[in-house]
Amino acid sequence: MTGSKSSSAVKVCSDRTELSQQAATHFSEIARRAVVEQGYCAVCLSGGSTPRETYELLAREPFSSEVPWSQIHIFWGDERCVPPDQADNHHRMASELLLTKVPIPSQNIHRVPVELNDPTKAAEEYESLIRSFFGDLGKKLPSFDLILLGMGADGHMASLFPGTEGLNEIQSWVTAHYVPKLDAFRITLTLPVLNNARQVMFLVSGAAKAEALQSVLQGSADLLELPARLVRPEGTVLWLVDQSAASLLELEELSLN
Ligand code: 6PG
Repeated sequence: MTGSKSSSAVKVCSDRTELSQQAATHFSEIARRAVVEQGYCAVCLSGGSTPRETYELLAREPFSSEVPWSQIHIFWGDERCVPPDQADNHHRMASELLLTKVPIPSQNIHRVPVELNDPTKAAEEYESLIRSFFGDLGKKLPSFDLILLGMGADGHMASLFPGTEGLNEIQSWVTAHYVPKLDAFRITLTLPVLNNARQVMFLVSGAAKAEALQSVLQGSADLLELPARLVRPEGTVLWLVDQSAASLLELEELSLN
């Protein structure tokens, strides 16, 4: 499939194990290529349950040796407004499964400072941190080498849920907003930044996502109703999906690789 500016591909994996293996392999290839080209690789991790196995794989051989961890910089596409040590904090999850198990310098880990206990301040602080990492870009947007995203059964990605305020944010790189269906605040990268990535990789698994996936890739629903449809990066988007999630797709319409 080809969007207005981005190119996208869908790979249907037999199950979550194969999906995770593919995701870890792509992560490693993208990281090695970026490090050769520019000396570093800036990656945004995602939360949710789907990437857990990918993080576990990346912490093991061959990935633990082949990824140039000292030149990888880790960010997050979104974060939950929960204490840093709470189990559903995205940074905590990635730390436990991956970041404490590979030789990545602590200064390369750029997390959302949720301990500020103020979502707006934490979002501003996180944006400053991204700005200082990328240096003076003038009016340009930061370009992450890889952004990992999950998708919810309602079509949300990162913490951009259907109908939420943050979907309209075009000035800030990071925003904090209230998500009524969760009765919680979330901090998230905004669409302009997500769409300026060199590569976005969606990981989508399970039958509960089948309907949303079909609507996002092949449906015609209102864009704001399905935030994942708004992801059209400058670079490429790869959908790694398992057979259960792909069960409603018209496969012959997809450019599979
Ligand atoms: C989160 C993420 C969210 C997640 C999707 C998919 O807070 O968990 O922000 O965007 O990636 O909800 O989650 P699962 O992988 O758990 O299905």
